[in-house]
Amino acid sequence: MANVSIKDLTKSYDGKQNVLAGLNLDIRDGEFCVLVGPSGCGKSTLLRMLCGLEDISGGELSIGGDVVNHLPPARRGIAMVFQSYALYPHMNVYKNMAFGLKIAGSNKADIDERIRHAAGILKIDHLLERLPRELSGGQRQRVAIGRAIVRKPRLFLFDEPLSNLDAALRVQTRLEIAKLHKQLAATIVYVTHDQVEAMTLGDKIVVMHDGHIQQAGTPLELYQHPQNLFVAGFIGSPKMNFLTGLVSAVFEDGLRVAVAGGRQVSADVAPGDARIGDQVTLGLRAEHIHENATGSEQFSGKVNLVEHLGEANFIYVTLSGGQDIVVRGDGNRNVGIGEEIALSAPGNAFHVFDAEGKSLRRLKPGNLVSSRQH
Ligand SMILES: Nc1ncnc2c1ncn2[C@@H]1O[C@H](COP(=O)(O)OP(=O)(O)OP(=O)(O)O)[C@@H](O)[C@H]1O
Ligand SMILES: [Mg+2]
Repeated sequence: MANVSIKDLTKSYDGKQNVLAGLNLDIRDGEFCVLVGPSGCGKSTLLRMLCGLEDISGGELSIGGDVVNHLPPARRGIAMVFQSYALYPHMNVYKNMAFGLKIAGSNKADIDERIRHAAGILKIDHLLERLPRELSGGQRQRVAIGRAIVRKPRLFLFDEPLSNLDAALRVQTRLEIAKLHKQLAATIVYVTHDQVEAMTLGDKIVVMHDGHIQQAGTPLELYQHPQNLFVAGFIGSPKMNFLTGLVSAVFEDGLRVAVAGGRQVSADVAPGDARIGDQVTLGLRAEHIHENATGSEQFSGKVNLVEHLGEANFIYVTLSGGQDIVVRGDGNRNVGIGEEIALSAPGNAFHVFDAEGKSLRRLKPGNLVSSRQH
């Protein structure tokens, strides 16, 4: 079993400031856990503490039910794959993969079997005689992963393993990592800055900020029910649109909010303690806003930039009240810069955040795509 339990974990490099501020997190055996967060929030520090490369300043770290705070890295049963592949340049692929096992005293036949098995999974069996410099970036990355697999670790740690690869290789290697996870049924903790990697690979995504966990949940939970403004703004690309407004009516099953320069909008959220006159932030994802016939729109504005993606457009609009939003439009629709545009979103598309940035519970976050037809 390789479940990971992190309790009140703190880290300070200088004895004064906490880089990790009392983290609590449970990772199930076999779970694919993705860590995301802005640069410097403590992701690599957490990985390095998990594998024993960094001292623990406070709290408790358990793997498979055993506290490992003081266990040396070699005895933790963990393999870490770094962003830089860190292969030995003078050794061929086979020797690179064999090296750690040799040091650990495994016998030749066992080493050979493990390497052939891992090379088969990663489709690098034809490259075993090559030196790292004779490989493409993606192949090197697979060797680095292979070197981790042969050790049969109970826990894999990946620190931005795909960030050196070009777009096509990233997609290919991402799929391979997903398959690998299924085949090995291994527990994985994976750091990335890539939204698509996080959403597609993770059973669970953990959003970190300034050494704190902001929210942990399934990709869809985080996407549909971000608990606060930070998570809402962090998960999803393009970023969620935020509009400030004032509560103008409170119902049992929703709020009416007056947006600066727009009409009143209804949001299907649990009103909580909201009162008329409260200032709130509305959140709207680009794909949930649709163009409207003039006259019945909630917002109107002027197009100032259009990005053509092929299947869709991202239309950047400055609303008449001065706030900027981005709308995902049909790729076949030709929108001109400077064009006036009328926009609306259904009540179940709105997120509402109170003055502290805390999210009000959404009541009907159903199939938002079909509600576009309203
Ligand atoms: N060895 C060190 N000594 C002192 N401070 C450090 C050390 N390593 C990291 N830090 C600091 O700890 C904080 C967290 O760093 P960490 O490398 O964990 O961030 P990260 O989330 O991995 O960022 P990135 O996305 O840029 O890789 C940063 O403020 C960093 O400057
Ligand atoms: Mg890092």
